[in-house]
Amino acid sequence: MSLRVRFDGVCKHFGPVQVLHGVSFELEPGRVYGLLGENGAGKSTLMKILCGYEQAGPGGFSIDGEPCRFADSREAEAAGVVLIHQEFNLADDLSVVQNIFLGRERRRGWLLDEASMRESAREAMDAVGLSIDPDTRVRDLIVAEKQLVEIARALSRQARLLVMDEPTATLTPGETHRLFALIRQLRDRGVTVIYISHKLDEVEQITDEIVVMRDGRFVTRGPTAGHTRQDMANLMVGRELTDMFPPKAPLPDAPPLLAVREFSVPGWAQDVGFEVRPGEILGFAGLVGAGRTELFEGLLGLRPRAGGEVRLQGEPVRFKDPRAAARAGLTYLSEDRKGRGLHVGLSLQDNLTLMDLDRHARPWLDAASQRAALQAAVRDFRIRAGSLDARAGSLSGGNQQKLAIAKVLQPRPRVLVLDEPTRGVDVGAKRDIYFLIARLAAEGLGVIVISSELVELIGLCQRVIVMRAGRVQATLAGDHLNEEELIAHATGTH
Ligand SMILES: Nc1ncnc2c1ncn2[C@@H]1O[C@H](COP(=O)(O)OP(=O)(O)OP(=O)(O)O)[C@@H](O)[C@H]1O
Ligand SMILES: [Mg+2]
Repeated sequence: MSLRVRFDGVCKHFGPVQVLHGVSFELEPGRVYGLLGENGAGKSTLMKILCGYEQAGPGGFSIDGEPCRFADSREAEAAGVVLIHQEFNLADDLSVVQNIFLGRERRRGWLLDEASMRESAREAMDAVGLSIDPDTRVRDLIVAEKQLVEIARALSRQARLLVMDEPTATLTPGETHRLFALIRQLRDRGVTVIYISHKLDEVEQITDEIVVMRDGRFVTRGPTAGHTRQDMANLMVGRELTDMFPPKAPLPDAPPLLAVREFSVPGWAQDVGFEVRPGEILGFAGLVGAGRTELFEGLLGLRPRAGGEVRLQGEPVRFKDPRAAARAGLTYLSEDRKGRGLHVGLSLQDNLTLMDLDRHARPWLDAASQRAALQAAVRDFRIRAGSLDARAGSLSGGNQQKLAIAKVLQPRPRVLVLDEPTRGVDVGAKRDIYFLIARLAAEGLGVIVISSELVELIGLCQRVIVMRAGRVQATLAGDHLNEEELIAHATGTH
């Protein structure tokens, strides 16, 4: 059962760009390892090599003392080495059962043994707490459900070594709790678990040891208990990180930039009203399903709205789509980076300037001006890309997020709505993003931050609106802006 892994001088190039520079370290069986590193440090790449999705060159790894190389993920899975992807790897048009058994369908005689597959799928789904019809097509699932299907799929593969790349990015606290119980069960059965996350409190809770990578190199390995979160953060970025949040400016006394009254999105939000002033950072808290994202999708014309009044700089507005909103001065960073945020097949430059081509037209498209915008964004956001001509899809998860934020700033908005702006972003970059948001507010923008990270809302915002079941429950500020009160209003237990 047990399985010992040893990485030995693993190197990896993508074209001329070297992303792993001779990584060597060892992992013992039956332990949970937290793999830490900044965005682009090479964590996902190293794990893809281990699990047969990429080939190393030169260097490699051995398992239980035997040099090993998996031609593809199927070969790795046959050996019990399984990866849960950071960006989902499911077939959208297949059902949940079909995805769980993809590539190792069970047969009885010449026929597929549907009944037995459905039953096993159910067991795996129960284990992760996924209570949906196993015949649902993956396309019709919400993000958190897709995440749980990925995990169920991996569990049903009898892993001896399980890599989880940011598994909780879209999970609720309850789902995360259940996942941690599962991880502990697996570890006690001798499974080696590698857990990648930028949520250091989770790393602290669930891992036995941490392994830190920086710039494609191994930095250190040691017991989790011997490191504070601050230590972990410093090891990742290679410098001392102080003050995660900028000082808070007082709530400005000015007429609102955006004023929303009695706004409803059928099925999601009821009679919501709020205002954001120039210079204000306004937070939106709530549980998954509270209707925060859907409210803003309604404001942007992405969902049908019912009644209500929306004024931008005093003028009544009704946007037909996000592009129209951007032209009027309001831009929106979607929480669904892959679906609505970025076009992974397009270049960084096209992604960045797509919403705002008018500004680069003289009247023909000015390539130099577009290029300058890209260079500025890469510099300001410290986006790590192999080359400026890379496709957005080749960036690491966190760097895609930075590009998505840069993109919504391109049209020079007056009001900026950021939905989960730091999801998948490393601590150093998080700090950069917080300071950037504060700078934008100081320049007179109204910034709205929707976030599941309470610490982030508390550290950044002057006021936080708490939503539950589609309604505004409370607006917290000053001394009332603390975790206890936020949770109480979000769950309805105050
Ligand atoms: N298919 C690819 N083509 C070109 N470059 C790539 C490709 N995959 C990864 N890279 C580059 O390799 C580097 C390491 O990426 P990787 O995804 O391993 O980082 P990571 O540590 O997982 O970061 P994150 O925390 O943001 O997920 C990045 O600079 C990325 O742009
Ligand atoms: Mg990654």
